[in-house]
Amino acid sequence: MNMIELHNGEKIPPLGYGTFQIFEEKICEECIYEAIKQGYRLIDTASSYGNEQAIGKGIQRAIKDKLVTRDELYIVTKLWVQDAGYEEARHAFELSLKNLGVTYVDLYLIHQPYGDYYSAWRAMEDMVEAGVIKSIGVCNFMEDRLVDLCMNSRIKPVIDQVEIHPFMCNESLIKIMKTYNVKPMAWGPLSEGQHDIFHNTQLQKLAKKYQRTVAQIVLRWHLQNGVITIPKTVHKERMEENIRIFDFELTESDMRNISNLDLGHSAIIDHRSGCTAKWINEWKIHD
Ligand SMILES: NC(=O)c1ccc[n+]([C@@H]2O[C@H](COP(=O)([O-])OP(=O)(O)OC[C@H]3O[C@@H](n4cnc5c(N)ncnc54)[C@H](OP(=O)(O)O)[C@@H]3O)[C@@H](O)[C@H]2O)c1
Repeated sequence: MNMIELHNGEKIPPLGYGTFQIFEEKICEECIYEAIKQGYRLIDTASSYGNEQAIGKGIQRAIKDKLVTRDELYIVTKLWVQDAGYEEARHAFELSLKNLGVTYVDLYLIHQPYGDYYSAWRAMEDMVEAGVIKSIGVCNFMEDRLVDLCMNSRIKPVIDQVEIHPFMCNESLIKIMKTYNVKPMAWGPLSEGQHDIFHNTQLQKLAKKYQRTVAQIVLRWHLQNGVITIPKTVHKERMEENIRIFDFELTESDMRNISNLDLGHSAIIDHRSGCTAKWINEWKIHD
């Protein structure tokens, strides 16, 4: 896996392992151990997923069994809206470190563009300078929020993790990210299985042509677009399938055909809607 260089000089793997909705502790720990065993080095979690402790256990076991060292891993976690604020962010980060059982994280992300995230960002900048976070970034920041943060921060975000898949290509946002040297990271890279993606005729045709699976075609499309992906699966054989995308190449015209599936809007969430802002602000992860 060739690493991708971020604007601060840090390097990140182009493909990692997502952990949203892996709730059961034992299963989560086992998945992390297995993912590391299979060669995944980037692990994406969030305080709001409620699984940082289980992930920490999987990581510690993998390190103890000498599958990997801490510095070979790239650990990403996120700050929830409820903890937006200077002191709140510092406290939430300390808790994430403790839950994960590590002394630093590679990338700390603001999970949602709501609440007092500017104060949180100042705390994150200070923690980068203190050496407990290597890089900081954001999630779900649309053009206006991203540009505003880039123009009003001491340390610019290295990554914006947003929904990207063939049915939601987010091309204009990615163009803006490029202008500000922010790398795109796709959540829902397989469209969370929606739009019957694994049975899409166009994608199945390509799968047949390249003797690959639909998931591999889609993940390869992301890779060639320079988009970092973090597909989630609880199945060992799918973990293996999803990481085997480095030994083939899609033609330019097949890349275009996949991008042409774009519907231009999300069927999952609209971060601009008042309803989304309301329910996310009301979603509490602690007292
Ligand atoms: N920042 C944010 O706001 C945000 C939002 C959502 C997600 N995320 C992050 O992004 C990660 C990925 O997104 P996601 O989990 O929402 O969706 P996803 O990775 O696009 O899709 C996951 C779904 O696809 C299935 N799947 C995975 N590989 C497959 C394969 N090879 N063949 C068939 N089915 C397959 C999984 O089922 P099985 O598990 O049953 O295999 C699961 O149902 C998350 O886990 C999380 O870390 C971030």
